[in-house]
Order: sequence, then structure tokens, then C-alpha cells
Amino acid sequence: MFNFCFWAIIIDGRRRMLISAGIHYPRATPQMWPDLIAKSKEGGADVIQTYVFWNAHEPIRGQYNFEGRNDIVKFVKLVGSSGLYLHLRIGPYVCAEWNFGGFPVWLRDIPGIEFRTDNAPFKEEMQRFVKKIVDLMREEKLFSWQGGPIIMLQIENEYGNIERSFGQRGKDYVKWVANMALGLGAGVPWVMCRQTDASENIIDACNGYYCDGFKPNSNKKPILLTENWDGWFATWGGRLPHRPTEDLAFAVARFFQRGGSFMNYYMYFGGTNFGRTSGGPFYVTSYDYDAPLDEYGLLSQPKWGHLKDLHTAIKLCEPSLVAADSAQYIKLGPKQEAHVYRANILSEGLNSTQVGSQSVCSAFLANIDEHNAASVTFLGQSYTLPPWSVSILPNCRNTVFNTAKVTTQTSIKTAEFSLPHSRDLSILQKFVTSSEGSSVSKSWMTVKEPISLWSENSFTIQGILEHLNVTKDSSDYLWYMTRIYVSDDDISFWKENSISPAVTIDGMRDVLRVFINGQLTGSVIGGWVKVVLPVQFQPGYNDLMLLTQTVGLQNYGAFLEKDGAGFRGQIKLTGNRDIDLSKLLWTYQIGLKGEYQKIYSIEENEKAEWTDLTPAAIPSTFTWYKTNFDAPLGVDPVALDLSSMGKGQAWVNGKHIGRYWTQVAPTDGCRPCDYRGAYNSDKCTTNCGNATQTWYHVPRSWLQESHNLLVIFEETGGNPFEISVKLRTTGVVCAQVSESHYPPVRNWSSSDFIDGKTSMNDMTPEMHLQCEDGHVISSIEFASYGSPQGSCQNFSRGNCHAPKSLSLLSETCQGRNSCFLGISNAVFGGDPCRGIVKALAVQARCTPSSNFRFAQL
Ligand code: GAL
Repeated sequence: MFNFCFWAIIIDGRRRMLISAGIHYPRATPQMWPDLIAKSKEGGADVIQTYVFWNAHEPIRGQYNFEGRNDIVKFVKLVGSSGLYLHLRIGPYVCAEWNFGGFPVWLRDIPGIEFRTDNAPFKEEMQRFVKKIVDLMREEKLFSWQGGPIIMLQIENEYGNIERSFGQRGKDYVKWVANMALGLGAGVPWVMCRQTDASENIIDACNGYYCDGFKPNSNKKPILLTENWDGWFATWGGRLPHRPTEDLAFAVARFFQRGGSFMNYYMYFGGTNFGRTSGGPFYVTSYDYDAPLDEYGLLSQPKWGHLKDLHTAIKLCEPSLVAADSAQYIKLGPKQEAHVYRANILSEGLNSTQVGSQSVCSAFLANIDEHNAASVTFLGQSYTLPPWSVSILPNCRNTVFNTAKVTTQTSIKTAEFSLPHSRDLSILQKFVTSSEGSSVSKSWMTVKEPISLWSENSFTIQGILEHLNVTKDSSDYLWYMTRIYVSDDDISFWKENSISPAVTIDGMRDVLRVFINGQLTGSVIGGWVKVVLPVQFQPGYNDLMLLTQTVGLQNYGAFLEKDGAGFRGQIKLTGNRDIDLSKLLWTYQIGLKGEYQKIYSIEENEKAEWTDLTPAAIPSTFTWYKTNFDAPLGVDPVALDLSSMGKGQAWVNGKHIGRYWTQVAPTDGCRPCDYRGAYNSDKCTTNCGNATQTWYHVPRSWLQESHNLLVIFEETGGNPFEISVKLRTTGVVCAQVSESHYPPVRNWSSSDFIDGKTSMNDMTPEMHLQCEDGHVISSIEFASYGSPQGSCQNFSRGNCHAPKSLSLLSETCQGRNSCFLGISNAVFGGDPCRGIVKALAVQARCTPSSNFRFAQL
């Protein structure tokens, strides 16, 4: 059973400090789930947290989908069988950079509906879905009181951010939400995040980059951090945000230092917005988030490893954190402070041979100075604290971890060209020594998407309809077609007066393309931007086609039901005289012909009239391409490199891998990042001047050995011959460990710290390197013990260097998946230079182990 008290969450009568890993099940495949959960557990997580995605589960009102990536029951059971707990955030509004914030688009069509306020039709629909999920979990016995993993739920999401927009009705809604949720009899606590007016029986929780000092609205409630943003999401044409590991560790340590008891990483694994699930507008297909597990499920180092060490350190303090009734605060300096957790506990929990009561004490020493290190005295001993860091002392004496001292390896991800799936060794050898095979295929077929009316599925009506009212979001695309008569007089008037007629629209989102007589004449991109797009007509009748596109529906804010897409306000043709285009007859056609015919699917792709593509025929706009390719060997995650393409969507074996768009990030604004000081999503960005996303994940389980069907719809023109299949792998690992670092925290256990048992003297810091599974260290590219300079991929020797460095590292590591080495003069055959603090820097290359590479031959 689960309960809560001031300092901690109580599960089965035991107070706990909980680390939670955010993973959204539909952003991975069921085949990936076990590995993601296992890596979260190994990284120190006690809990997995996920949202529930209403529009994935109920795409059509009353018709549910709990299959494949939407198999939430399977996901929850996997979490349970791994020995982890689950925090289920039902929402059902979830935000999450997910299409329409998780709302099904049909919800807009319920008569009289207003989202997220005291509105009867909305409340009815919301309650129906939340009850459906709670009942499902209960039937499957997934709540903790039934022996399942679910210890906590969430209703709504950050409603406090928008509550004021609804006045009194907002306040009434908050009360209704709480009563409704509690009335479902789930038997575990409910959370509302960012909800300062949450009712008595609902826990209000903090979301943010830093939540230390957060106080819930009652001291009967535990201190929860439901979203610690460990990175941020990316937008098409935006830079890539990165949150420094040291700063993230600082925020986590500060949270527990100041009384926190549950902290979730949003995201621990971000994954991929497959299909059209990406929210918006303009959020990219990757939801990597700079999370500890990258988009493909590989470890992001040093983030994953440094946090793992941090979690170990926090767990070493858990006995005193949960036993102490309050922390003792000690001011150590102007910007330095300690929190001490001291208590007497029964020794049973620690070591069954010792009986009676024992004193436990742990402390967190923080230096919140952004610039300078500080020397402080704590309980009679002196400590040096790096700037913007926390030292953790599980026995109030020895530092086992400091958030700013990273000893974990760094890993550099590479995209290797894949080996063809051939059983003929000579072909493989030829491949390895040549650049042949870099493109996914040498033979492509193509078919044009018609820029004209193509189906009976269209309709004609006077006026401009709102985009979503017509498409119901069944496609990104909506065609508006009309015919305009232009006289010779008009044309000469425009010429004589140097006037250019223009399509002029008050507001448009997300993308508009204008075609005159079948020719693309202009495009506009933006969120409710004004459009003034010059156009040229021929004398006589002209076909004017407007194509509006969505690129992920709005997922944040109040009044989402009113937001809509396409056009807003007046829509005119301006020139010598304004023509109100909304008075004309328009023919509407939803989506693309290729989408309608499902020519991306294995079953239907032959329906299109494909012809062979010759390199001379590219690039071309509004074109479909298809080819077949073999899956690469091995188990490394697979990506398609679509950097040669423009904008569109891609399918592999009928599975929609997502939207792609080669939008380039600004050339400026990326700067070297300093972990010190408060983080925000613009602080540490990379990728300036490059396309925001070029690799697109194709889950292994979607591939068969050979003859995989790849279908692409391209809008703006690209070169499919240059599309390549790549393997995402950790190609290079580096470590940098100094004599002054702490011995590995994993070498300790809680019992080491009982009643002053504290001999740490015989332990040295360690260097640890590890390649991904199935890979080995094939060579040591750099090794220097002494005063090495630079950073990974850029190391150089300093004045001090132990000659044995390279040979010792090669001996220890080469040919192995992982290796470690103690950092001391003795290990390196004596002190290479007295009087200075020495460090070891190593760079190693990881390659697939040969057994592994050819295992499938
Ligand atoms: C939060 C929200 C999450 C997600 C996050 C940004 O405000 O609750 O769902 O959108 O922002 O990634």
C-alpha cells in the first residue's frame, strides 16, 4: 500500500526516496520497451512514469486501440515484472509535444464543448476516458494494492498555468477534477502538477528545471517533482538544446537536499514521434530531448552514468533521509549551505547482526555560487566545493559524490554506413573497403502527386472553411481550389502601375503553398502569420489552388478547441481592386491522392502508376518515390539519413516513420556551454547552420531481412538517390579521471557508514570504459596519465606524461567490451611528475565484435 507523510512517500509501510524515469510507451516500440526499462533500472530508477495518450487510444469516438505501441497494459506489466513502480499520468490532456496535447480531434466536434473548464460536455468525455483507463488498470490488477506496479496517478496537467483564463469556471473545474478522479476508486494517490489550489486529497507537484525549495500547498503532502526537464524538445529549423549533466545533477541533488522525496526525469527516454503524433506547431520527429537514453535507446554519456552515480549516492543517504523528521540547516558561507539529516534508527534494516538503535547521519553541502569554488568547514572538517555543485556525504563525513565532478565516460555517437545483409563474404569485404552501398538504393520508382482534382471525394461550397473542420486531421493537407477570371485590362493595369496582385490573408498556419494553373508559385511558413503572396495570372481563367498544411497540432495553452488551423480572418486577392476570395465557390479536397490510395502500404503500393526514376528527373516537387532495401546486419539501431530531401513523410513497410523536413537552424546562437548558473532551453544549444534533424529512426522490428519497402512523399524537391541507411552506434568513448576525484560511489553500501565506520583511504578513483552491447574496444586512440589537455576527440599530452599510458590502456582494454583501471601513480609505474595533481585521459574506439558482426552470415 501507498501513503504519504511530510518527508516521504510510504510504500508497504516503508518510507522511500524515489527516482523516476519518464518513458512514453508510444514513442518506442514494444520490442524496445524491455531494454529501455532495464536500462532505467540499471541507471537507478525506482519508478517509470508515463502519460496516457487519449488520441492514440481512441482515434474514433468509442473505438479503442490498445495494440502495438498503444499496448499500455503490456507496458505497465513489463514495468511491474522488472520490479519497478509506475506513475501513470492519465491527463487526459497531456501537452507532451504530442499532437493536440493528446486530445482526439473529434473532441472539437462535440456540440457545445469547451476544453478544460467547467463545461458539461467536456467533463463527460473526460470522465468517460479517465474511468476507462482506471477500470482497465484495475481489471488487469495493475494497482499496487492489487500487487501491480502503479503507485500513483495524475489527473490534468499543469492546469494551474492556464486556470486564470477561465475565471471562476476554472476554479470550479479544479474541484470537479479532484472529486471525479478520487471517485473512481483507484486506491492510489492522485497528483496534479503545477496546481497550487489542488484540493486536500490531491498532491500538488512541481515541474521545472529546479524545484528545490518547492512547498506543496499543505505540509501533510510529500514534495514531488513530476517533471525535471533534463533537456528540451526541438523545432524544425531550430537549434538542438542540451542540458549540461553537471547542472542536472546539481538540480536533483538540491531537490533531495531540501526535502524532496520523488523526482522524475522528463524525459529519461524521449524516443520518436512516429507517424503524425508530433505536436506543435513545428515539433520535429525526434523526441530525443537530450535524455539519458537517446532517441534510439542507447546510453547518452556522461549523462546516464553520472546520474546513476548520483542516484547511488542519494540511496546511500536514504536511511537517514527517511528517518529524520526534519533537516538541520547550516549556513556554511554567503552562498554555501548544508542540510543535515540525523536520526536514530533500528539497526535491523541495515544489518541483521547488529541490534538496537543506531545513529545515522547524512549531509548535502551545496555551493550555489555560479562562479567560484568555495572552501567550507562542516562539523570540524574542511571541504572544497566546486562552483554550482552539491557534495553528498552519506555519513556526514566522507564525500562520495560531487555533482560537478564527472568521472563517467563520454560517448560520441556516429552514424556508420550499414553493411548489406549479404551472406557472401567477398561482397561484404568489397563493401567495407569501398564507399559503395552508401545509398539506400540505386533504383527508385516515382509517381507525381496530381496538382488538380483527383477524386469524387471532394465537395464544392461557397466560402473558406476552417482546415481542421474539413480534414478532421486525417491528413496534414487540405486543398482549396477555385477559378478566377482575369481580363486583359486587369493585366495591363497591373503592368502600367507596377502593381503585383497578391493573395492576402489575415492569418495562416502552419504552411501554405499557392499554385496557379498547376504551378507552385509561393509558400509561406508560420503560426498565424499574415500572408501577402504576389501571384501572376494569365489572361482568361486561372486555376488558383491553396494548399494548407499542418505540421503538428497545437499542444499547449487554453482554448485549444478554438485554435484550429489553415486560415483566419479575411482572405483576399489584392491589386487594382480587392477581390474577397471568401465569396467565391471553392472545391475542397482532403489529403493527397497517394495517402488516399495508401500507396505507402505493402498491400496497396502497386495501385499507383510508378515509373522508373532517372537521376536526371530530380529534384521535383510533390512527388512520391519508392524503393526496396535490405536490412543492415547486426542489432545496432537503424536510421535513414534524409538530408538530401526537402520536406515530406516517409514509410517503411507501411509503417509511418514520421514527417521529415530539412529546415536549417540559425547559423548563430550556439555557444560553448558553461554548466554553471541557471539553465534555460536557449542556454546550451548546438547544430547551428545544420538541418535540425537528418536521421530518422526505423525501429529494427519494422524491418525484415531483405526487400523492405521504403516510400517517400516529397513536397519541395530532393534527391532520393542520396538517401542512405545508417547504423546508430557509439563509435568513440572517452574518459577523463583525476587523482582528486572520488572513488566510485558504487563501491559503497549503506552499512559502510554506520556509526562512524569510514575508512575510504584504500580506495582510489577509477577510469571505466564501456562500449554498447555487441561492441568491443578495438583500439586506444589516446591515453595519457599526467597533465593531458583538451576534451574528447581533441585530447593532447601536457608536460607531464607517464610513458606507460598507452600500452597499459591497450593491454587492459583492447578486445574487451568494458574495462576499468585505478588512478594512481603505482598503476602507471611511478609518479611521472611530483607535486601536481595528475589525471588520466583516454579515448577508445568501439567497433562491432567480429563474432557479432558476422553472426548472421
Ligand atoms: C511541460 C508539460 C509537458 C511537456 C514539457 C515540455 O510543461 O507538462 O507535457 O510539454 O512541458 O517538454
